Amino acid sequence: MTIGSDRVATPHPLRGRAAIVTGGGAGIGRAIALRMAAAGCAVGLIDVQEEALARVAGEIGAADRQVCQAVADVADEEQSRQAVDRLRRDLGRLDILVNCAGILRLGRLEEISMADWRDTFRVNVDGLFHVSRAAIPHLRAQGSGRIVNISSWLGKSGKAYYGAYCASKAAIISLTETMALELAGDRITVNAVCPGIIMRTGMRDRAEVELQQLGLPSAEARMAGIPLGRLGQPEDVAEIATFLASDAAAYMTGHTVNVTGGLWLQ
Ligand SMILES: NC(=O)c1ccc[n+]([C@@H]2O[C@H](COP(=O)([O-])OP(=O)(O)OC[C@H]3O[C@@H](n4cnc5c(N)ncnc54)[C@H](O)[C@@H]3O)[C@@H](O)[C@H]2O)c1
Repeated sequence: MTIGSDRVATPHPLRGRAAIVTGGGAGIGRAIALRMAAAGCAVGLIDVQEEALARVAGEIGAADRQVCQAVADVADEEQSRQAVDRLRRDLGRLDILVNCAGILRLGRLEEISMADWRDTFRVNVDGLFHVSRAAIPHLRAQGSGRIVNISSWLGKSGKAYYGAYCASKAAIISLTETMALELAGDRITVNAVCPGIIMRTGMRDRAEVELQQLGLPSAEARMAGIPLGRLGQPEDVAEIATFLASDAAAYMTGHTVNVTGGLWLQ
């Protein structure tokens, strides 16, 4: 007997699909690219780090999945457009866009440099805007699509020293909602993921050094405040991003999904 739905879970829910993942060279973006490839997806990677891109492409290629890569700065509109157009050509189609590239610059609002403030918005907000605008015509031409934006639990609240980052991640939540409304008629869903404290990433490693210099608590020290009792891993986020990109999430759009181990409730 089938209860509720006759959909059968498949180990390859993205078989035959193609995705572009920005920030795919490291951390959460890398984990999403690997997870989507394991789910049967062809993957195009965008990152500023050429060597890191080649490494991840090698990992995906070794698992016999189609992969291609483009070195591009998402903060640059023209580079973003060229990268998306080229990857779309190489992949032969485009069904999924994951906007994951992002940076963190710590500093209290009176102290943060204008360069750090502007870079945060150039990468985290302008970057998502540029890549999405380049990808949307391809998704529309495909007849349907999925956009998954990586925001943060800090996009839902303020935090001392994180002002620029929090504001940029809040902008991603807002843009997710607008994009969801504007693209629903094209059968393109747009959702955001809000990760909590995620270890084993370049951003986290750099933040830990800076937090120590500022005399602020480390991730390890904050673990006690996480109801599920452990810090997050890139794979925790990758699993949810892959779900949001799959047919199983067909009736979800405009949502922001917390992946925080319950940290959000504290
Ligand atoms: N690690 C965490 O605790 C955490 C928590 C919440 C949200 N996030 C978000 O997850 C995303 C990935 O972060 P991560 O922790 O994996 O960090 P990471 O530094 O390991 O990965 C970020 C990737 O983005 C790339 N990138 C940076 N600027 C770019 C640009 N201008 N153009 C193209 N690529 C660029 C980097 O080269 C890197 O490969 C970010 O958007 C971050 O804000 C991370």
